[in-house]
Amino acid sequence: MKLEFIKREVLKEKPADESKLGFGRIFSDYMLMMKYDEAKGGWYYAAIEPYENLSISPAALVFHYAQECFEGMKAYRTADGEVMMFRPWDNVHRMNISGERLCMAPIPEDFLLQSIYELIKVEKDWIPSSPGTSLYIRPTFIGIDPVIGVKAASQYLLYVILSPVGSYYASGLAPVSIYVENKYVRAVKGGTGYTKCGGNYAASLKAGEVAHERGYSQVLWLDGRENKYIDEVGAMNIMFKVNGEVITPELNGSILAGITRDSIIKLARSMGYKVTERRISMQEIADAAENGTLEEVWGTGTAAVVSPVGELIWEDKVIKVGDGGMGKLTLELYNKLTGIQYGREADEMGWTVKL
Ligand SMILES: Cc1ncc(COP(=O)(O)O)c(C=O)c1O
Repeated sequence: MKLEFIKREVLKEKPADESKLGFGRIFSDYMLMMKYDEAKGGWYYAAIEPYENLSISPAALVFHYAQECFEGMKAYRTADGEVMMFRPWDNVHRMNISGERLCMAPIPEDFLLQSIYELIKVEKDWIPSSPGTSLYIRPTFIGIDPVIGVKAASQYLLYVILSPVGSYYASGLAPVSIYVENKYVRAVKGGTGYTKCGGNYAASLKAGEVAHERGYSQVLWLDGRENKYIDEVGAMNIMFKVNGEVITPELNGSILAGITRDSIIKLARSMGYKVTERRISMQEIADAAENGTLEEVWGTGTAAVVSPVGELIWEDKVIKVGDGGMGKLTLELYNKLTGIQYGREADEMGWTVKL
């Protein structure tokens, strides 16, 4: 398969004020489009095309049975104007892991990765350069057979769109307050919790609304069976520093194997910290807060990078983290990771690629 290029006649106006980018509201001139049809022998079309609305049947499987998964990664502008990406091969691979669970067609990972590089090169002028900004990359994979009936599709679209973004949180790096959900669940053993499928997020909206009504910005999910053990936050994995040790929920099939999570575990270990991946109960965290050993809590994710947590509310108990400010290790990890992503720090782990 060859990657085609379809030129756009008129380019869009780029955002003039990078302080007003927000998140995921502005899209660039081009997108990558790949098409699959079993009847045509598999993947048969790949092109960098003008960004525009899709035309697919209202009967398309994705609209009814949610055969869909997606990814999220970023391209960064370094101080000397170069373009970097961070572990994009891991996102492409994770998309295949999600797709496999949803019985979707296997993705040619290297072809997709190289095609994303080409798209970013074409759209490099859309990468903002102010501190904390980046170009968010959203690969999306959908089953589109125009047939009503629950089955795996035989036709797919895989497209990648680009959005220049500012910081994920309007409040910047200020500690967030988190609502521990104990009525609704996000994932159960044997379900799709470990995938990045749209259905997981649709099912999470209800709890998000309740949390917002109560003044909390994010939901912390507990396990779907006993409502006791910590899984993850809405769009982040979660880590705790208790008595000098970093602990984080193990990959148990219910949580997303975050690429930021893995990077932070490795960075913290390289800084000499003991990091343990294991089952953690909410009671254990409440006890640690009570006895003064809950030192820091932070979330990790591509969008928010490393996000300090100032307090958790669990069954009407408010759990304060440290002094409620940004923890020392949280800040160190944030600086170290963003340093690598923006090319300010040496990349000893081989995580970045310059385009
Ligand atoms: C549910 C969920 N958990 C964790 C993460 C963090 O994953 P990553 O670090 O790969 O962005 C995300 C965001 O992608 C997410 O949506």
